[in-house]
Amino acid sequence: MAKLLIEGGHPLKGTIRIGGAKNSVLKLMAAAILGHGSFHISDVPAIDDVRTMVGVLRSLGVGAVLQGNELSIFVNGVQGRPPERLVQSMRASIQVMGPLLARLGRAEIALPGGCAIGSRPLDIHLDSLSKLGAHIEERDGRIIATADGLHGADITLRYPSVGATENTMMAAVRAKGTTIIRNAAREPEIVDIQEFLNKMGADVSGAGTPVITVKGVPDLGSTNYRVIPDRIAAGTYAIAAAATGGEVQLLNVIPHHVEPLLRILTAMGVPIEVDERIVRVYPADRLHPIQVQTAPYPGFATDLQPQLTVLALKAQGTSIIREAIYDNRFGYTYELAKLGASISLEGNRAVVNGGRPLWGASMNAGDLRGGAALIIAGLMAEGHSEVVGLHHVDRGYEDICGQLQALGARVIRV
Ligand code: EPZ
Repeated sequence: MAKLLIEGGHPLKGTIRIGGAKNSVLKLMAAAILGHGSFHISDVPAIDDVRTMVGVLRSLGVGAVLQGNELSIFVNGVQGRPPERLVQSMRASIQVMGPLLARLGRAEIALPGGCAIGSRPLDIHLDSLSKLGAHIEERDGRIIATADGLHGADITLRYPSVGATENTMMAAVRAKGTTIIRNAAREPEIVDIQEFLNKMGADVSGAGTPVITVKGVPDLGSTNYRVIPDRIAAGTYAIAAAATGGEVQLLNVIPHHVEPLLRILTAMGVPIEVDERIVRVYPADRLHPIQVQTAPYPGFATDLQPQLTVLALKAQGTSIIREAIYDNRFGYTYELAKLGASISLEGNRAVVNGGRPLWGASMNAGDLRGGAALIIAGLMAEGHSEVVGLHHVDRGYEDICGQLQALGARVIRV
């Protein structure tokens, strides 16, 4: 089993480049199913979730090859259904449902498995697809959606779900007529999918606002595309820099995508400088405690909540972090207790008593972002730590060990 060995207590220093966004590229890959021909996507992170999505595409008869950070996709015919094993290992596989339905009039997909960060229903996806004319059935742990031609509809999401917004956009691009999606998610990844679909020949507008309009077109072609930088990876390294009192320059970051985090870091006393596509983090004299809660974009991202909670351990005083997206995203705090962290959970709030010394310990990552948080904690703590369960971290961070080493961290993977 792979482990990360960390000698903590050393500030990070140096420059790294942030790669493409996991949560965008997985959906661009699904969107390719709607088109015909060759796609070339650049700056694709070489992470396990992308490899899983390559498997999903291949299971549908679509060619997909990842070489370094370049992904080639060849779409001729599309057929079949993604194997249960892949869908259960990665919830994002359900993003092929909208495209399959639009293209084939039928999508059959296993219900995604349980998730370490809480229950994650699919009602908003299914409700929207049925408004576009799909008939949905749930049988033997599978969802079977069928449609005899999708039609445009005026749809209001009960919550701005990222995945449901994307599935609805992708199903609607080839529907007859116009679809309006209200209360849509506004994440930068939604804008990226709009751009990608439009380059394929779709007519989508409004992404990034709560109302998205999709005018159906009969056919979509192929395109070449560069995926946006990963704002969550950028945020993770910015927090790691602040947590170690380091001085780090992050290249290939779109500053307004990380602004919700930068505002919090600034309020905590971390000096930040922003340039075009560059974020610089400088050492703080002293960190102030914070009170924050996660929210859909442009609010503070839940995918940075565990990392920020770890940073709050360094602030002098009590911070309160409220998780408003997931019902069980504080599991990693039990591992932090092994370092001497004082965090108490009160429902969906973590009360963090910061400013106490942390000692190295052996920790077990239980999910992707929680795992990244444990690594940051290991960098902060005095002495030696180890983190196991790295397969969770490998799902979403390309070579986190190498990136940290490039910043001078004393980490090795064994
Ligand atoms: C995306 O998940 C991201 N994943 C998640 O990142 C991220 O945490 C999340 O958006 C929120 O920002 C990908 O993009 C692959 P949602 P998604 O639908 O689309 C509830 C990471 O660490 N909900 O906006 O699944 C749901 O249970 C991952 O990179 C319903 O109730 O998120 C959750 O509580 C983890 N019914 C909330 O909405 C539905 O039909 C947000 O989910 C759909 C969602």
